[in-house]
Amino acid sequence: MMQEKILEILKSKSGYVSGEEISSHLKVSRQALWKHIQELRDLGYDIIAVPHLGYQLVELPDRLFPQEVTSGLETKFIGKNIHYQESVSSTMDLALELGMQGAPEGSVVLAESQSKGRGRLGRSWISPKYKGIYLSLILRPKISPLQSPLLTILCAVGLCEAIKEATQIEPQIKWPNDILINQKKIAGILTELNAEMDEVRFVAIGIGLNVNTEKKDLISTATSLKEELGQELNRVELLRAIFRKIESNYLLFRENKRREIIEKWRDYNTTLGKRVKILFHHQHLEGQAVDIDPDGALLVRKDSGVIQKITSGDVMHCR
Ligand code: BTN
Repeated sequence: MMQEKILEILKSKSGYVSGEEISSHLKVSRQALWKHIQELRDLGYDIIAVPHLGYQLVELPDRLFPQEVTSGLETKFIGKNIHYQESVSSTMDLALELGMQGAPEGSVVLAESQSKGRGRLGRSWISPKYKGIYLSLILRPKISPLQSPLLTILCAVGLCEAIKEATQIEPQIKWPNDILINQKKIAGILTELNAEMDEVRFVAIGIGLNVNTEKKDLISTATSLKEELGQELNRVELLRAIFRKIESNYLLFRENKRREIIEKWRDYNTTLGKRVKILFHHQHLEGQAVDIDPDGALLVRKDSGVIQKITSGDVMHCR
């Protein structure tokens, strides 16, 4: 791609690069170069042109363009193959389709906005344009469907590690997979399986993260990194960190170092030790959240003393 090559040259220099230099290097005419520069400007790249000096890239667009995300991406497979859309109904729909067509492990559907972003338990995920990170990641682990909660857990850990690295804020995880900052929800994870009885074909893991989302677009129980930090964050850099951290946790999972993941999850979690109310299989249940098991299920000690294993559901922390 000529545009990418031009960007590469502009990014490698801090000052001006002469049109002469670029066009001879890429073997295009000065006129063709000018046309490509115009196209880049239309995409939001702020490129100034000064006669006798040349071109200078002064600002990158606030977009999650795949070429920006993949340049400098330090992963082996996650995020190498990005399907980028300005707007979609839900990245999950596209990811499930791509998964069925055989998209390789690590493929990602990434959107700037969603009209029907969905959450767990039939909820919706509000996805204002250019403000958040909305993605679905395709993984092909060789596991039974029963082990899939651990995938969600490792993604939650990866997401927390990336948020912490980028912002110095330590988020918390509410079981199973709500990411909170100051008691308010900043991100959610939704895992959908395509599986046989005893074997997962692929999973689509949906992640919604409120990055630069404005207060007016947030419900009262939600927040964004911008709200918490008081400043906007570069979504591209954050996204690269998310891919890197999720991949390293997924590699732990593949190497059977699942205890390590659970231990990290424990450090971020805010549910264990609390008294909880849970809606589980149309049943209300109350007790003390005592542990999670190796598959990621929550263990709750009811007042009768009986320990119940919860694999999914909606948790409310009491008091
Ligand atoms: C939850 O907290 O209930 C999970 C929310 C998951 C939202 C993300 S946004 C990207 C992906 N596409 C969707 O439609 N949902 C997930």
